[in-house]
Amino acid sequence: MKALVLSGGRGTRLRPITFTRAKQLVPVANKPILFYAIEAIRDAGITDIGVVVGDTAPDVMAALGDGSYWGVSITYIQQDAPLGLAHAVKVAEEYLDGEDFVMYLGDMLIADGIAHFVEGFGQAQCDAQILLGHVALENSIEFGMVELDASGNVIRLLEKPESPPSDLALVGVYLFNANVMKAINSIEPSPRGELEITDAIQWLVDNGYCVRPHIVEGWWKDTGKLDDILEANRIVLDTLEPERLSEPGTGADLRGRVSVGSDTVIENSLIRGPVSIGNGCEIRDAYIGPYTAIGDKCRVVGSEVEHSILLAESCVEGIGARMTDSLLGVNAAVHRTPMLQDSVRVMIGDNSEVNLGQ
Ligand code: TTP
Repeated sequence: MKALVLSGGRGTRLRPITFTRAKQLVPVANKPILFYAIEAIRDAGITDIGVVVGDTAPDVMAALGDGSYWGVSITYIQQDAPLGLAHAVKVAEEYLDGEDFVMYLGDMLIADGIAHFVEGFGQAQCDAQILLGHVALENSIEFGMVELDASGNVIRLLEKPESPPSDLALVGVYLFNANVMKAINSIEPSPRGELEITDAIQWLVDNGYCVRPHIVEGWWKDTGKLDDILEANRIVLDTLEPERLSEPGTGADLRGRVSVGSDTVIENSLIRGPVSIGNGCEIRDAYIGPYTAIGDKCRVVGSEVEHSILLAESCVEGIGARMTDSLLGVNAAVHRTPMLQDSVRVMIGDNSEVNLGQ
């Protein structure tokens, strides 16, 4: 069996971060989301992995390389435009070469991995298997939603419906045999101009092919939006195995599960875990609160940061308030300028957001 990881897309919901980087490379607990996908696939015993890439191909390729770091072999497949999940499968037709494959959305995190899901698919004589999870009905507008009959057979799939037929959403992991290509070649683009994988699966159902549901037990997260990334960060940090590669300096008080990378200086600061701090950071006169992940070469000085993600080389200095629920991009800075009284000065990119408290 092969795997197809989708790592193209537009990432509009995560702008401005996605103006300059692949959303699949945003770190959760200081590890790119995409790495969790590769590990889940490898742990399910699959080593032949195709990665669909779009505009951010160079970054994705630099991050994953040939896959040997994970003991897998990676083939890159260029998708010239993000024309839908089924379109991504279509452009991978030659790579897939008629084999069974697991399709995995590259911005998806699944706590328990996919080994149980993948097991036995080849022997089951089924054409497709879809991983489903329960969601709150008001969130159905963000997902592909699925209706099952009383015997648990898939009867209907709807893309982002306002009135969902059930609370079962497509998680973003699918198993297919070669018949999915027949389906994809038979469907038309949806009103939003994409070839939808939900339409392809519906085609399989309508044409008498076997489509089997599999309901996920543990947590899963589509990390397409800021709040979801922060929540994923919180959940993964909760399982953090602390590693200390630098000694705390004078006045450093590290409580709970705190990981610290190499060449990181922490002085006169309280760090309350779970927290992950990268390599080469400077943390001084600061408070770092739970569920914070700080990337490499960051500075937090004279400031409080909590429930946030700081990407590499970002800086928070002297802000005199607690920064919370935030995501700072690479080399971004938030600091206090004493000359500015009762005013705020910003230089922020397109689609950025600044929320000021009282
Ligand atoms: P989505 O999150 O559904 O789409 P998107 O990445 O375009 O983001 P947004 O809705 O915020 O604009 O995509 C799910 C995954 O599939 C994600 O990892 C990107 C990938 N993808 C492709 O590789 N090719 C595509 O044509 C599309 C639509 C998505």
